[in-house]
Amino acid sequence: MKILPVKGTRDFYPEEMALHNWIVDGWKKASIRNGFEEYDGPIFEYLQMYQVKSGDEIVEQLFSFKDRGERDLAIRPEITPTLARMVNQKINALPKPIKWFSLPRLCRAERPQKGRLREFFQWNIDIIGEDSVLADAEVIFTTVDYLREVGLTPKDIKVKISSRKLLATVLKKIGVPDEKLNPLYTLLDKKVKLPAEVFSTTLTEQVGGEMAGRIIAFMGSQTITSIENIVKAEAGDQLEVAIKELEDCACRLNQMGISDYCVFDPGIVRGLAYYTGIVFEVHDIQGDLRAICGGGRYDNLLRDFGGPAVSATGMGMGDCVLEILLREKGLLDKKITSRTLDYYVVPIAGELLDEAVKLTAGLRTKGFKSAFSYKAAGLSKQLKNASEQNAKFCVIIGDEFKAGNVVVKDMASGQQKTVPLEDFLGNPEKF
Ligand code: HAM
Repeated sequence: MKILPVKGTRDFYPEEMALHNWIVDGWKKASIRNGFEEYDGPIFEYLQMYQVKSGDEIVEQLFSFKDRGERDLAIRPEITPTLARMVNQKINALPKPIKWFSLPRLCRAERPQKGRLREFFQWNIDIIGEDSVLADAEVIFTTVDYLREVGLTPKDIKVKISSRKLLATVLKKIGVPDEKLNPLYTLLDKKVKLPAEVFSTTLTEQVGGEMAGRIIAFMGSQTITSIENIVKAEAGDQLEVAIKELEDCACRLNQMGISDYCVFDPGIVRGLAYYTGIVFEVHDIQGDLRAICGGGRYDNLLRDFGGPAVSATGMGMGDCVLEILLREKGLLDKKITSRTLDYYVVPIAGELLDEAVKLTAGLRTKGFKSAFSYKAAGLSKQLKNASEQNAKFCVIIGDEFKAGNVVVKDMASGQQKTVPLEDFLGNPEKF
């Protein structure tokens, strides 16, 4: 019986694993230099946790199951609810602001497609306990800091920024009743993925033609100020507050030197239900791919999970779209180094294998990456093996061993020296 991998999952052979580790290392380094500390949680939680606030789309994509005690559980589709739960548990003991990052493996029962799988890795950074827009800007900066480091420029990607507060206020001013807001967010979030007529017809069915027209005009606004042509702000109202937050955020991003990556785009809604303020997504300029990452402010989630009202903002970046984009841009070439060895130890005859094993163990104990040949094949075959494994030196245990010597061959220059085994093992780097 041939067992196939499950649809939407990946096998990481060493080559893919090397690439994956390179991506994850970059995420870690960017998090640490921006002041975030690592955390993690369990890979499954109570099903209910995702039903509280993540939104219908995520709930439909859950891998859920009953355990032997009939408890309803689900594999994590995101880590933000776990983060909220963990922070709530220790809220008084944790110094604020909390700046944490995580690199969870997540599962969503999505239809697998380009950039979307059923199992993926996601870099998360979150700042909890800081309500100023500076925290939103810092999350965006950290995201760009990483993307810029791997070689993506403003010609490749754009950070599209908007605000749930702005959207909610505009929708209410247009006349959308409160109870229709959440289902509407799900539809509006799909705008870019749907053909224009399908989106317009579905929107009209939900809110009527007049409101649909105004919503489409709002989502197409190019500047923050042009929103006032669609709905008017009144002094001190939520629209004015939302606009001010977006302007402050733009100002901070300018101070941080990343304005060229950022653009205001009221078409950004975000699929998850818990966002309350500034939201953003990073997209490739061509718009061929799904979002590289997304995030925003979620000031009510900790309270909704039974904790105090503590503000929070963050983002999640998957590894799939990122990898596709980096490959398309040629930014992965030469990045992934294959296995290298300091020493490859070659016994020239079967009876010398014992010595090869001892010498290799000695080198490893001293901290050198070393391997030995299991079989005493001809020397040229052994040297070929050594160069296939990118060994810097070959240590040949051959005829010279009778006199207590080994031959150390520099694989780059081809030069070789005969040296006493004891001396070599005492200080391998000397030779
Ligand atoms: P999200 O928009 O659901 O947000 O996912 C964020 C990113 O995760 C996406 O932009 C994409 O890169 C990746 N992603 C999502 N689903 C898949 C999939 N099926 N296959 C591959 N990659 C995927 C969240 O998850 C929020 N919890 C992020 C967040 C953290 N907001 C605040 N803090």
